[in-house]
Amino acid sequence: MTAASLPLPRPVSGADLTAHVSDEPVALLQLDVSDTAEAASAVYREVRRGRRVVAVASGGVDASARLAEALDLIGVTTARPEPGQALLNAPVSIVAGPETAIAHPRTIPARPLRVALAGCGVVGGGVLARLSTDDRFEVVGVLVRDPKKPRDPAVPGALLLADPAALLAREPDVLVEAISDASTGLALIRAALSRGVDVVSANKQAVGGDPAALTALAEAHEARLLYSASVGGGSPLIETVRRARAHGPVVRIEAVLNGTCNFILNRLAAGVAFDEALIAARDAGFAEEDPTADLSGLDASAKLAILAHEALDGGISPERIARETLSADAALLPGRVRQLSRLDVRTDSAAVAFTAVDGDSLFADLPDEWNALRVTTGDGRVFTARGRGAGRIPTTESVWADLTDLLASPSQRNAADRGPGRRRKCASVQE
Ligand code: HSE
Repeated sequence: MTAASLPLPRPVSGADLTAHVSDEPVALLQLDVSDTAEAASAVYREVRRGRRVVAVASGGVDASARLAEALDLIGVTTARPEPGQALLNAPVSIVAGPETAIAHPRTIPARPLRVALAGCGVVGGGVLARLSTDDRFEVVGVLVRDPKKPRDPAVPGALLLADPAALLAREPDVLVEAISDASTGLALIRAALSRGVDVVSANKQAVGGDPAALTALAEAHEARLLYSASVGGGSPLIETVRRARAHGPVVRIEAVLNGTCNFILNRLAAGVAFDEALIAARDAGFAEEDPTADLSGLDASAKLAILAHEALDGGISPERIARETLSADAALLPGRVRQLSRLDVRTDSAAVAFTAVDGDSLFADLPDEWNALRVTTGDGRVFTARGRGAGRIPTTESVWADLTDLLASPSQRNAADRGPGRRRKCASVQE
């Protein structure tokens, strides 16, 4: 299919038109790239739905380049085909539209969605920056451990809270939970769901312990629990497992799930010293506050447990997942080595182990902090995904996509509840 043969729809900023090429859905988007972040988010949301995208970029001479750059920071690979070249060779193709874009007015809800933000570090800070400039949302409180610590972005003093119960007392519609501590995060998620507050979490340790119990709690209280950012940073790994499962029973998952380990292994292969590589991973915002979780496989095993919950009835507990540790003196196999998380239904085994992947093109050349996933179903069909697995920009994008999904389909309970003076029943926050 060439550019000339593609009918262009009227300009709007979301998915304009969806067609199918064989069994692959394709979204055609006409985008105003004057707001580059919003245009990139529109593409990202289609990618995570499993669609190929043809994006027509308008809004300045360099609109296509700006869109490609913004998508690269999220971890979405793009191609910019010349006129006459095939458009659907890449997962995302960008073609230049008219220089002057027609503005796409955004649908503003009757009142903004009230957001309580827990955590204001690498991910929470990125989410706050976007929330603060978007009038569809109102930030009602920001939970931090140390209110005196300087933050980027700065948080208005009236929003800063150190007590989880005080955060929920501000009656949010949604809790965005982006703290690193498992038990505080879990208690807060449970308390929010118990009072019918929707939750978007990026906290794999909190969600991975027992995702089925949290999902059941959400259902019992008519709340939604979304946690795309807890696995894969900006790469749509959970969505890919869901697509595979919808196709047929999942028999195998193989994945690189920890950006820090992937980054360090790449640096080690390039001759960089272990400590230097770890410092660079921390400085870039890839490593956890305590990088032991990254290096010991604890982070990857929580993520594998979440993917197992998506893939299988009954899931798998993180404690059942064997782990290996990466350290300065770990004896690694020769060749291209990855921290590979594997779940094999037929052998009933699950492990996070350092594995040689030479010749496996999905994993062997996986750059920097990228993550990748291969899911195999019982009939031999293979589903794959790759993207940036850690860091502020991609992980924020994933949280943002969950938040905008919530905005696009307000829960019945929230819709009925959305008036001044509404009161929810109180639940205590227990750690
Ligand atoms: N520390 C994690 C990683 C962050 O390196 O993958 C993303 O979950």
